[in-house]
Amino acid sequence: MKIFIEKNYTDLSKRVADIIESEMKEKSNLVLGLATGSTPIGTYEELIKRHKEEGLDFSKITTFNLDEYLGIPHDHVNSYHYFMEENFFKSINIDNDKINIPNGNPENAEEYCKAYDEKIENQGGIDVQILGIGENGHIAFNEPDDKLYLGTHVTDLTESTIKANSRFFDSIDDVPKKAITMGLGSIMKSKKILLLASGKNKANTIKKLLKDGVVSTHNPASLLLLHPDVTIILDEEAAEEYM
Ligand code: F6R
Repeated sequence: MKIFIEKNYTDLSKRVADIIESEMKEKSNLVLGLATGSTPIGTYEELIKRHKEEGLDFSKITTFNLDEYLGIPHDHVNSYHYFMEENFFKSINIDNDKINIPNGNPENAEEYCKAYDEKIENQGGIDVQILGIGENGHIAFNEPDDKLYLGTHVTDLTESTIKANSRFFDSIDDVPKKAITMGLGSIMKSKKILLLASGKNKANTIKKLLKDGVVSTHNPASLLLLHPDVTIILDEEAAEEYM
C-alpha cells in the first residue's frame, strides 16, 4: 500500500491525475473505474486541463462508473449520469460507446447487475479504479453492514449517506433511498485502486481505516487494505488524525 499526503486538495487532484496520466500513457485502451461525489471533481478538472492543453487522449479509454441512484431519470441534475457528463465527459474526447454508468432504471435489476459485471470482465477488468470514501467508510454504495455483496447490486442507502448527499438536493426527502452499485468483489478485482480523501470531515474515517488495524464489513473501505495494489491519496486535513 502506498500513501501520499498532499498539502491541499489541488495537490491531491494533481497527484491523482499524474497517476492516471502515466497509466494512460502505458496503456492507451485503459479501463478506468470512476466515482462521483465531491472528491474526484478536482482530478477530473486536472485531466480535462491536460486534455485541452497537452492533448491527453481519451479516445481509446473505456470507463465504468461505480454507482447510480435508483429510479432517477438520467437527465436529472442529481443523477450520476448528469454529474459525469457535466464534470468530465463533455470536456474530453471520450467515445460515448465506451462510457458505462449503471442504469438507474433497469427493467430487471438482477439481470442488469449481472450483465454490468460481465461487461467489466469482458473488457479484461478494470485497470485503475478511482474511489472516494464515505464518512462511515462506505465505498461506492457498499454501506457498513454484517455482510457485503460481491457483485453489482441494488442497495438501500443508510441514513448517514442520505444526510451527507442531501447537500446536493433541495430537501432531504428528495434524496433517493436506493442505489445500484458495484459490489466489493467487483471493486477488489480492479488491478489498481486509488482511494482519495480530502478535508477535515474525512479525518476520523481515515484514522479508523489506517490506524485501527482492523478489517470489517462494518468499515467497507477496510477491505481495500487486503488489495495488493492500493494507493491512498490524502490532503493534510484528511490525514490530520492519522499522522
Ligand atoms: C460516488 C461514490 C461514493 C463517494 C463517497 C464520498 O460514486 O461511490 O462512495 O465516493 O460518498 O463522497 P464525497 O467525495 O462527496 O465525499
